[in-house]
Amino acid sequence: MTDPAFDADTLRERALTTLTTARARTTLLTSCVEEPDLTAQHSPLMSPLVWDLAHIGNQEEMWLLRAVGGREAMRPEIDGLYDAFEHPRAERPSLPLLPPAEARHYASEVRGRVLDILESTAFHGTRLTEAGFAFGMIAQHEQQHDETMLITHQLRKGPQALTAPDPDPVPLFTGPSEVLVPGGPFTMGTSTEPWALDNERPAHRREVPAFYMDTTPVTNAAFQAFIADGGYDTERWWTPEGWAHIRQHSIHAPLYWHRDGKQWLRRRFGVTEVVPPDEPVLHVCWYEADAYARWAGRRLPTEAEWEKAARHDPAGNRSTRYPWGDADPAPEHANLGQRHLRPAPAGSYPEGESPLGIRQLIGDVWEWTASDFLPYPGFQAFPYKEYSEVFFGPEHKVLRGGAFAVDAVACRGTFRNWDYPIRRQIFSGFRTARSAGDA
Ligand code: AVJ
Ligand code: FE
Repeated sequence: MTDPAFDADTLRERALTTLTTARARTTLLTSCVEEPDLTAQHSPLMSPLVWDLAHIGNQEEMWLLRAVGGREAMRPEIDGLYDAFEHPRAERPSLPLLPPAEARHYASEVRGRVLDILESTAFHGTRLTEAGFAFGMIAQHEQQHDETMLITHQLRKGPQALTAPDPDPVPLFTGPSEVLVPGGPFTMGTSTEPWALDNERPAHRREVPAFYMDTTPVTNAAFQAFIADGGYDTERWWTPEGWAHIRQHSIHAPLYWHRDGKQWLRRRFGVTEVVPPDEPVLHVCWYEADAYARWAGRRLPTEAEWEKAARHDPAGNRSTRYPWGDADPAPEHANLGQRHLRPAPAGSYPEGESPLGIRQLIGDVWEWTASDFLPYPGFQAFPYKEYSEVFFGPEHKVLRGGAFAVDAVACRGTFRNWDYPIRRQIFSGFRTARSAGDA
């Protein structure tokens, strides 16, 4: 493939800008609160922010300074502290973590040395350096933790620390609520996207029968109709596991929602506000998404259906990088990168729509799919089994498309995210589908 966007000079420039963008975001997320809020654990589900900060530096040191650059470990004694597999999140606050000033210093020392290595490393020769893969991987890793830290900020009680402008208002979406995606094979996954992670590879053909896909994510108004219709109290909409889970944990609405008389309010980054009706619903678990879909007489799309809707270009009969084509995401395509701290109203971003007119597949909210997280045929773990391979299996469901909290570098038509079906603190929403054979 001779895509000019993938030549070595462009990729080296891109590595530099994307690492720099990630660090600016990390710095903001770890400087907008006082020290006690950096070392506290705001939820047992999350690390203290100061753990994410030093873990970002430690992963960068391991892969870019040691593996690519051949340097000695700077602080071998801290590796264990920041190994996500050695210490589950709940126990991280009791570890002898680097205090905030030391964590900042460590991460910036690593970065300084990485910039030298970035300049002197050939972007070919080994799998790690080919097309600058390791640099892209580490930029994605930092941005993924920036999303993780944003989740922690949202969980944190207390006054607002982060602000961002709202997305532009849009006229009410008046397009069709669903479109037919014709049946037939398409190319799923990628073998050519230079910074695609191991679980997105390799490209392979998939047969996907005809189905209908929602043109926008499910909105708060639609989800409120499910609640008002007794959705959370009607066992038949739920899988047995989902029903047991919402009963045991008294779940009656999306996370962060509460009712005030007749209206629903939500807490968002320290501010309480009326739930906006035309915004995609956020902070629902897989069980809630699945139950809503059944109530609506529909179902969640499979992962293959989602990717076909997002990438298949019927005119060119090929798969594109994004719904709008092959161009890198720009602000007019999608709500990404924490530019806004909320999803944009359903029907936003007409320039980001797919050839069939499906909107907001990329950005706004992560979309739950019906599928378990499984390897593609021919999968090879690279560069480490703990990125994807140890998570394959029926206990994790796949999410697609990224959210407002995700940077463009860690979001593609092929990008795969996964989590447990009970998770709701993530920036998760969904859209629904139905098989074309169904009435
Ligand atoms: C791909 C988002 C599930 O946050 O657990 C970060 C990304 N892997 N550090 C996660 C990741 C290692 C991962 N997710
Ligand atoms: Fe990590």
